[in-house]
Amino acid sequence: MQESYILNEGYNSQNLISHSSGAHIYIRNKKYLDLSNCAGSQILGHNNLIIKKCLKDLSKKKISNYANPNIHAIEFSKTLKKVIPNFSKFVFCNSGSESIMKALRICRALTKKEIIINASGSWHGSLNETLYNADKNLNNLSLSDGLPNDTKNKIKFIPYGNIKKSKKILDKFKSKTCCILLEPIQGSLPNIANINYIRFLQDYAKKNNLIFFLDEMITGLRDEGKSFQTNNNIKSDISVFGKAFGGGFPLGVIAISPKIYSKLKKKKLKIFFGGTFSGNSINMYVANKVTSYLTKHKIIYSSLKKKTLKFSNTINKFSEKKNLDIKVYSYCSMARIVFSNRTINNRSQRDFFEKKNNSKIQNFQNFIKQNKIFYPKNGIIFFSNAFTNKDLSFLIKVFKEGLNKYF
Ligand SMILES: Cc1ncc(COP(=O)(O)O)c(C=O)c1O
Repeated sequence: MQESYILNEGYNSQNLISHSSGAHIYIRNKKYLDLSNCAGSQILGHNNLIIKKCLKDLSKKKISNYANPNIHAIEFSKTLKKVIPNFSKFVFCNSGSESIMKALRICRALTKKEIIINASGSWHGSLNETLYNADKNLNNLSLSDGLPNDTKNKIKFIPYGNIKKSKKILDKFKSKTCCILLEPIQGSLPNIANINYIRFLQDYAKKNNLIFFLDEMITGLRDEGKSFQTNNNIKSDISVFGKAFGGGFPLGVIAISPKIYSKLKKKKLKIFFGGTFSGNSINMYVANKVTSYLTKHKIIYSSLKKKTLKFSNTINKFSEKKNLDIKVYSYCSMARIVFSNRTINNRSQRDFFEKKNNSKIQNFQNFIKQNKIFYPKNGIIFFSNAFTNKDLSFLIKVFKEGLNKYF
């Protein structure tokens, strides 16, 4: 086996992707149906016409990167203001993790408090502050070596969906808390949102002067070309976006509400946001074109929703008929197979029930790969507009065969 010079936990010399087109990626010149779509960033599919046009434009319009303010960041922020109208100011970053790290800096600066209340089962990227999972007793489990000692004590988990238990924990820590952070729909269990729970947290934060922080990295631009909060009449104080807005180019956006912005101005706080590639012209130009296109072509969303529902409904009916120990959860264009048919309400229950099926899961995943389907390591399936009905029928056929064989 050839050595890699890249230190990457996902490295396997047999799995290196070389190129892509539409709904497919290529590994060692073999074509695979891609279920990752750049972890949900490529709603239009790989090398789509918008991206191709952008790449031509960049050369024709002589757009480069400058590490300084530019008109493309302003243009993109004007488009963003229409798509996520609850916010008045945007800070541009290059990843979701960077935007969350800097948004937490704002939360601490404004409140002078440091505890982050986090809904269990959420994922917020690779920053030190959030690289923890909750175990079934809501104790913090570190997800990496090398985290600073003090971050562990500064994140407290509340059980996603459980208002009574969450309130108890919130009451205990509210005097030291800067923000309540959660994904409105969790990639770990994408399902119908628990709107009552999200509203409870929104209202609790408002009443107790805590910052209500929604992580919309996945949900932003995923439902009808809007955000989760716009569609559900939820108002966060601060939010982060990225993924689909960038169309496969690196992007993180901190969106700041007028209320938070006026506090920031009044307090004259000195918060550092900058970076060489923050709001860089190339990403801003592409993000503006992709976002404008997606918001104008709503038909893409209805078609994607239909395909995702067909996938989840067909597999769930098949599973019920055959009494298989699996269930598909889905939201808009994302889906996840949970390898247990028990009623599951949160990630720690999911992990607990899936554990006994670990070897079956491995066999199933190998079978999927042998059938030229790329199934992402984190288990979150994202459909793209490049997926044809033929691709979908093929996917359903292979999944049925694999599930029947191993479950
Ligand atoms: C909900 C959520 N937040 C944050 C992140 C981190 O984003 P990034 O990987 O761009 O740093 C992700 C990435 O998958 C995510 O799904």
